[in-house]
Amino acid sequence: MILNHLQHKFLPFIITLILVIPTRIFAFDEDKFILGKSFFDKPWVGFPASTTARDGLGPLFNENACLVCHPKGGRSHKIVVKLDNPNTIYGAQINTKSNANVPAEAQVVIDYKRHTVTYANGDKVLLKKPVAILEKLSYGKIDSEFSLRIAPSLFGLGLLEKVANKPINRFNLSAIEPSILAQVANAAHNDMSLTSPLYPYENCDTKQVKCHQAPKSDEIDLPMHRLKAITYFVQSLDKVSAVKPIKLFSKAGCSGCHTPSYDLEKRTIYPYSDLLVHNLGEGNFRTAPLWNSKKAPNFWHDGRAKTVEEAILWHQGDARLAMENFVKLSPEYRKKLIRFIEKM
Ligand code: HEC
Ligand code: HEC
Repeated sequence: MILNHLQHKFLPFIITLILVIPTRIFAFDEDKFILGKSFFDKPWVGFPASTTARDGLGPLFNENACLVCHPKGGRSHKIVVKLDNPNTIYGAQINTKSNANVPAEAQVVIDYKRHTVTYANGDKVLLKKPVAILEKLSYGKIDSEFSLRIAPSLFGLGLLEKVANKPINRFNLSAIEPSILAQVANAAHNDMSLTSPLYPYENCDTKQVKCHQAPKSDEIDLPMHRLKAITYFVQSLDKVSAVKPIKLFSKAGCSGCHTPSYDLEKRTIYPYSDLLVHNLGEGNFRTAPLWNSKKAPNFWHDGRAKTVEEAILWHQGDARLAMENFVKLSPEYRKKLIRFIEKM
C-alpha cells in the first residue's frame, strides 16, 4: 500500500528524471547522430538510381562510402594520391574509380624505397617508404608532384575542435581545414564527388568533358542538414585514450610537439599534439595525435610505419634531434618509450 502510494507520487518524477536528465547533461541528439551515421556508413550509388537519397556518387571518385576508408570511424590501409598543384586537369586528388562511362583518372601502383637503421648495440630496423607510380593516366601527363595519404582515425576530432588558443586550421593531415564540417565537405567532394553547399559542383575539371556530360541530379547531395549530421556523428567519436605523460617522453624531446594534454571545460584530454604543422623533411604535416595508437595498423601520413618504433625513426627535419635522442637511449629505455605510446 505504502509502496503503491510512493510509486504513484514519485513515478512522474522518476520518468522525468529518466527522460530529461540525460538529454540535459549530455544534450545528445540521437536523431542527428543516426542520420549522420547512416550517411557515413551506407554506400552511395551513381545517378540515376532508385535510391534517390544517396545517388550522388561520382562520376569520378575513390570509394563509395566514408566507412570504406574509415572503418567504424578508425584508420585503414586505404591510400589516396594528393597533387601538390591542384590546378591541373586531375584536380587536388587522383580519382581511381568512376561510373557513367567516364574514364577513371589513373591507377595507383605502390613501390617501396628501403633503408636500414642500425642502433649502437647492433639491432637493426628496416624502414620502407611507399612511392606511388601512376599508371593508365586517362587525361594526359600530370604537371605536378604528388604524395600519398592514408585514411586516419577520426576519433577525438570533436575534442580537438574544442581546444582553445591554437590556430583554427587544424583538420586533415596538413591542418588546412578550419572545422570538421569543412573537412567533411572536402572529403565528400574529393573522395566521393558528392555536392554540398561548400562544393556545389561535381569533382570534374572543365576539360574532363565526359565527366561534365554524365547525368547528374539537380539536387545537392549533402544539403546543410545532412552535412551537419555527418559532422555531428564524427564529433561524437570521442572514445580516446587518456594516458598520463612519463618523464622519458619530455626528456627525449617529444613533448615539444606532442603536447600531452589540454584542459577543456569539462575534462582534461590527452591527445599528444600541439595541433601545429612541422616540416619533418617532406613538407608540412600536423603533429599526429598519439591517442589512437593502441593496435593501430599503421602510422605516418602515408602509413609507411607499421610500428611505433618505425614511426619514431622516420622523424627528420625539425624533429631530427628528438629522433637522435631516441636512437641514443639504452634498449630498455627505447622499449619503455615505445610501450608508453603503444598503450595509448
Ligand atoms: C578513399 C578513402 C576515403 C574516403 C572515401 C573518405 N575519406 Fe576521410 N580521409 C581520407 C584520407 C586519405 C584523409 C587524409 C587526407 C589529408 O590529410 O589530406 C582523410 C581525412 C579525413 C578527415 C580529417 C581527419 C583529421 O585528422 O583531421 C575527416 C574528418 C574525414 N576524412 C572524414 C570523412 C568523411 C565524413 C567521409 C565521407 C563523406 C570520408 N572522410 C571519406 C580517406 C577517405
Ligand atoms: C618537431 C616536432 C616533433 C617532435 C620533436 C616529435 N614529433 Fe612525432 N610527429 C611529428 C609530426 C609532424 C608527425 C606526423 C608526421 C607525418 O605523418 O608525416 C609525428 C608523428 C609521430 C608518430 C606517428 C603517429 C601516427 O599516428 O602516425 C609517432 C609515434 C611519434 N610522432 C612519436 C614521437 C616521439 C616518441 C618523439 C620523441 C622521440 C617525437 N614524436 C618527436 C612531430 C614531432
